[in-house]
Amino acid sequence: MERQLGTVAIRGALLDCVGDPFYEPEFQAVRYIADGLLLLRDGQIEALGTYADLVSRVGDRPLIDHSGQLIIPGLIDTHIHYPQTGMMAAYGEQLLEWLNRYTFPTERKFADPAYARSVAELFLDELLKHGTTTALVFAAVFPASVDAFFEAAEARNLRMISGKVMMDRNAPDYLSDTAQSSYDDSKALIEKWHGRGRLLYAVTPRFAGTSTEAQLRLAARLLDEFPDVYLHTHLSENVSEVTWIQELFPQYAGYLDVYDQTGLVRERSLFAHGVQLTDAEFQRLSEAKAAISFCPTSNLFLGSGLFRLEQAKNPEHPVKVGLGTDVGAGTSFSLLQTTNEAYKVAQLRGQKLSAFKALFLATLGGARALCLDDKLGSFDPGKEADFVVLNPQATPLLALRNEGGIPPTLDALEDLLFSLVILGGDRAVTATYIMGEQAFSNVADHG
Ligand code: GUN
Ligand code: ZN
Repeated sequence: MERQLGTVAIRGALLDCVGDPFYEPEFQAVRYIADGLLLLRDGQIEALGTYADLVSRVGDRPLIDHSGQLIIPGLIDTHIHYPQTGMMAAYGEQLLEWLNRYTFPTERKFADPAYARSVAELFLDELLKHGTTTALVFAAVFPASVDAFFEAAEARNLRMISGKVMMDRNAPDYLSDTAQSSYDDSKALIEKWHGRGRLLYAVTPRFAGTSTEAQLRLAARLLDEFPDVYLHTHLSENVSEVTWIQELFPQYAGYLDVYDQTGLVRERSLFAHGVQLTDAEFQRLSEAKAAISFCPTSNLFLGSGLFRLEQAKNPEHPVKVGLGTDVGAGTSFSLLQTTNEAYKVAQLRGQKLSAFKALFLATLGGARALCLDDKLGSFDPGKEADFVVLNPQATPLLALRNEGGIPPTLDALEDLLFSLVILGGDRAVTATYIMGEQAFSNVADHG
């Protein structure tokens, strides 16, 4: 009989979040089964438990043995630009100069659908190699750049969110749309792609600096017309940017207020960066249940600043937060590496970011930020079986650091996870599974 796709049993050390460790005791917020078994059916999680308890239910499922390795939910990148894949490591500029000098000329190339498709494939290879299974992705201004991305993601059965950049001022002519054309093109793309398979659409005005008020209002109209699409944009990243936005929109109280008064601050809105947000702006985001993507490698690379994570997670006015790589201003596709930098940003601010808190941001926290926690972010039965296998002894250095292998206690596990974040990066990723099927394996590389 033909094997059912995504109907397998996976053995290994299972670790996921069942709550938010920023608000409850860490050891209550995580679930750890040192010798665990995941039973999958049709790409979804049917059951999880100890190997001893569940082995009798494996039935005719092939059993894939990752004993000695750590299995966590697929990593979720809440902010990234696929057209900027080829321009990472662009030297010497801060945000506004970086956009004009490097970014806009690069994005021009995405007018060519064949080129866009080839970069989309390479981009998705990189995501999977780094254990990222879902991302909220900027495409370019050209509708065909969105088609290219979604076609590539659909062929791999990935849960991806993307959208056409809207930009009707302060950009080169070759990248500019108009308020009306951006509305029409986005609408057609929503009708074509939103909810097709695992794909979802995000209305994507680049940022207030490159949109007229008319364009922002039409973006909000799309959100009214299609209430379950997302809003994805940048917010309060860099000091000069914030000053410039205030000059462009003098009638508004501040940067967030521009988005708010035009109808863009909602539950399914995700704002990248937020480095320069005021306390009142954090409060407003909390009230609106909107989300922030914390992008430490990008914020350090562009010299934007140190994100106030503890203010975002303030229990008095909690804001949903996920992690973003923000490639190409970000310097790595890896959310483990991104966590490494997030830890250092916290240190510079006199704060601590524990490994379990970081795990939350990269998995269940990201899923909550994207309102996808009914489908992603943990191993709860019924969720989609996207997950990552990490090798605690992936390199000679890690083998020395973690010579005991998979530990029995949560204390020791948190230490091991921290070592993977600081020392591991992509080398720690043994395999990535999408809907229960292996989509990346590094075994050949190391074989
Ligand atoms: N603000 C507006 N556009 C961009 C972009 O492409 N990258 C980053 N990091 N910030 C932006
Ligand atoms: Zn960005």
